[in-house]
Amino acid sequence: MQVIESVAAFRQAYAEAEKPLGLVPTMGFLHEGHMTLVRRARAENATAAVSIFVNPTQFGPSEDFATYPRDMDSDLAKLREAGVDLVLAPPVEEVYPPGFDTYIDVGRIGERLEGEHRAGHFRGVATVVCKLLTIVRPNRAYFGQKDAQQCLVVKRLNDDLNLGSEIVICPTVRDTDGLALSSRNVYLSAVEREAALSLYGSLNLAQDLHSRGETDASSIRQRMRRLITESPLASIDYISIADADNLTELDIIDRPALISLAVRIGKTRLIDNVII
Ligand code: PAJ
Repeated sequence: MQVIESVAAFRQAYAEAEKPLGLVPTMGFLHEGHMTLVRRARAENATAAVSIFVNPTQFGPSEDFATYPRDMDSDLAKLREAGVDLVLAPPVEEVYPPGFDTYIDVGRIGERLEGEHRAGHFRGVATVVCKLLTIVRPNRAYFGQKDAQQCLVVKRLNDDLNLGSEIVICPTVRDTDGLALSSRNVYLSAVEREAALSLYGSLNLAQDLHSRGETDASSIRQRMRRLITESPLASIDYISIADADNLTELDIIDRPALISLAVRIGKTRLIDNVII
């Protein structure tokens, strides 16, 4: 496994790599959610590449960029074990050198939900993903459904700017109790982790109500809200039931819908979603 820190060295490795090449972009602190994407990229491509880069431009000024969990040694051991060929782990100055001044302006798909609550987040995500896809030029790039809106933003970006990769979306990986795996779960105390189960609990409740014939979105949102606010540790950023393609909020569930939510448990902000 080659660990590469510069764009120039990656270009060299790319020239020598067997194709097709699959890329899994990550911010590191790898867990089974990431590793499921990595194993799929390994299985489906002649060369498997992973990027590890905690991207400063997608964090707001009051967010956790400085304290975002990092463990490069453990990440590299996991990637070696999974048979990854190339790891791109650039320092910040390699991706954003002095004078860097060009960003991707994400359109409507990035305005609501995470975009509304994390100003500039998708501008940062789209900019770094555009750079990664341009540097690595993967035949396939793998993303997790856990970040549903990010998947829509990346697909739009890839199509609109002709980046030329196939975007592969992989299902959300959960712990045995249903909590979606996330690098941020390490911030949770034992009591907070227990409270965090209400995210998946409320998504299950929504699915259940819908499968029993409920199509009124506001009634489902209300039931989800009630379940989550049973815990005094939880504070809701949003609960959304939206058109799964364009994220327009729905009154009546009459088409494929993305049910998504962002909840703060103590100081930790968690997101989750299902498609019905
Ligand atoms: P990060 O949060 O490290 O996630 C990297 C990839 O792993 C994303 O595509 C994410 O959706 C996926 N992932 C995380 N947890 C998952 C889970 N429980 N199940 C399935 N997939 C999961 O997302 C980012 O990094 C960044 O925004 C990035 C795309 C790398 C751009 O900086």
